Amino acid sequence: MCGIIGYVGASEACPVLIDGLARLEYRGYDSAGIATVVQNGKLEIRRAAGKLDNLRARLAEAPLGGTIGIGHTRWATHGRPSEENAHPHKAGPVAVIHNGIVENYLELRSALLERGHRMRSQTDTELISHLIEEHIKAGCGLTEAVRLTVGELRGSFSIVALSETEPDKLVAAKTATPLVLGLGDGENFVASDIPAILSHTRSTVVLDDGEIAEVTADGVRIMTFAGTPVIRQPRRIEWDAVAATKGGFKHYLRKEVSEQPQAWIDTLAGRAIAGSPEVRFDEDLLPSGGPETIGRIVMVSEGASWITANIGKYLIEELTGIPVEADFASEFRYRRAPIDSHTLMIAISQSGETADTLAAMEEGMRRGAHTIALSNTLDSSIARRAHARLYTRCGPEISVTTTKCFITQIEAYYLFAIHLAARMARLSATGAGELLAPAFAIPAQIQRIFAVEPQIERIARRFAAAHDFIYIGRGINYPIALEGALKLKEISYVHAEGFPAGFMKHGPIALIDETVPVVVLIPNDDLFGKMLSNLREVESRGGKIIAVTDRSTDELRDVASEVIELPATNRMLTPVLMTIPLQLLAYYVAAERGTDIDQPRNLAKSVTVE
Ligand code: G6P
Repeated sequence: MCGIIGYVGASEACPVLIDGLARLEYRGYDSAGIATVVQNGKLEIRRAAGKLDNLRARLAEAPLGGTIGIGHTRWATHGRPSEENAHPHKAGPVAVIHNGIVENYLELRSALLERGHRMRSQTDTELISHLIEEHIKAGCGLTEAVRLTVGELRGSFSIVALSETEPDKLVAAKTATPLVLGLGDGENFVASDIPAILSHTRSTVVLDDGEIAEVTADGVRIMTFAGTPVIRQPRRIEWDAVAATKGGFKHYLRKEVSEQPQAWIDTLAGRAIAGSPEVRFDEDLLPSGGPETIGRIVMVSEGASWITANIGKYLIEELTGIPVEADFASEFRYRRAPIDSHTLMIAISQSGETADTLAAMEEGMRRGAHTIALSNTLDSSIARRAHARLYTRCGPEISVTTTKCFITQIEAYYLFAIHLAARMARLSATGAGELLAPAFAIPAQIQRIFAVEPQIERIARRFAAAHDFIYIGRGINYPIALEGALKLKEISYVHAEGFPAGFMKHGPIALIDETVPVVVLIPNDDLFGKMLSNLREVESRGGKIIAVTDRSTDELRDVASEVIELPATNRMLTPVLMTIPLQLLAYYVAAERGTDIDQPRNLAKSVTVE
């Protein structure tokens, strides 16, 4: 995890670094720190435990000058979140920031201690600064010292080093965690992701694994860890820096909820055209032998992406008849799942950087699977490594908890399932057209749900003091019960669980009493009557029912305390519309409880460690 930023140019480094860190804070906020080379040529560091505001306060007391510097926001892995463990770490003339984990930490640490180094922190990062310092003392330049050091490290990392001995350059290196270079006019940047530098430049170069970049005000020089020069053309980023700001909303989360209609339209664009039955993708996603060669589909992911995978499973199995398994990447990689060249593996990751998902996908590739990355992040590690890519097009999602990427992942499975079923001749042109038509109505339908926001806010206030929430759904909406519960847990810290409605009577119903709100996803489908029976079981035990439905009958209104009404859509797209009120419910419960909505405690947007 962690966010990294570096700057070298003619401007004051400190404001650039702090602005970049503010945009990277979603990657971790246990502590933050910056280092610059100040006027007397010395490195100076300011660090603070906790959020960036603590570092800002420190800088207000003791400002830092200089036109070159590095900054870091931390999600703790080695060593507790404290000031002494905050980055940058310094050894002799060298300061280092780091994202990732050094796996041979213990052996390197004891060797350094034996050689007389003194460690001030419990971090693996500090070792890196000591190793670089040793090579500089032995006569190497900074770039060579970094190159030799990365050869001694095992694990996944990206680092940036700055040294008093060469105060005009930053040296960056990476293995499996992301780093991007930003190219400006007389100034250059390095960062963990693009939004951190987007207000300064749109010209970027993504570093590949096993590469080092020497960054000065005049340019960048890239080479491999072996020292072979690398030439790479910069890529122009078209999206807007404004997309990475709050744009008038109180929280990124609420802003991103409101961006869902546009994200849906953008993800549809060019792939399906209103009135046409065809779904096209930018590249052929299927194995070269075509759909006949696919015996089985395995989906690997974590967190909310795992939840959407369970909806994807439902959609793909129903439309194509191919068996689909949706597994946690962290479980898949350590079990002997049967994978071969007839397996199509889909790795789902909003960030494209989740370490477990990347490792699971690589394991699948080793065993012969054809792999597709489903991601929102162009050129992310998972996207680059996979055989084929399917991008959602949400723009940057800053709030730690996902909203627009969640619903567009469902959209991507829907399009993919239609495409695959058509290629397998299981779906006629008319059938495909009938499935696609309601997808075009979704953006306006989401807007209509925003109209009931005041009702959802009132419901949230009514139940905000509850200690436990239960969410229930059936079939394709069961994963949405999991999502509703996860959202609430993540941002409001209220305990919540999601269950299949039919499972309630096999145990969870014991939890029900008059203090427990039960959120029920009850679409207008064949199981409506059965769901109503499940609700009666809950209501007769005192549970307070909040029904979310596109069929508000008298009977339902009779049994439920609250009914949130949705527009009607095709059965397979109901999870998309069901999700929206649950996002708003969690948001307003969290607002009522005064939690940190965009950056909930203990979480980070992207987990690049195992
Ligand atoms: C972290 C985040 C979750 C996210 C998960 C997977 O745990 O806190 O919100 O769902 O990572 O992220 P990915 O980028 O792979 O979809």
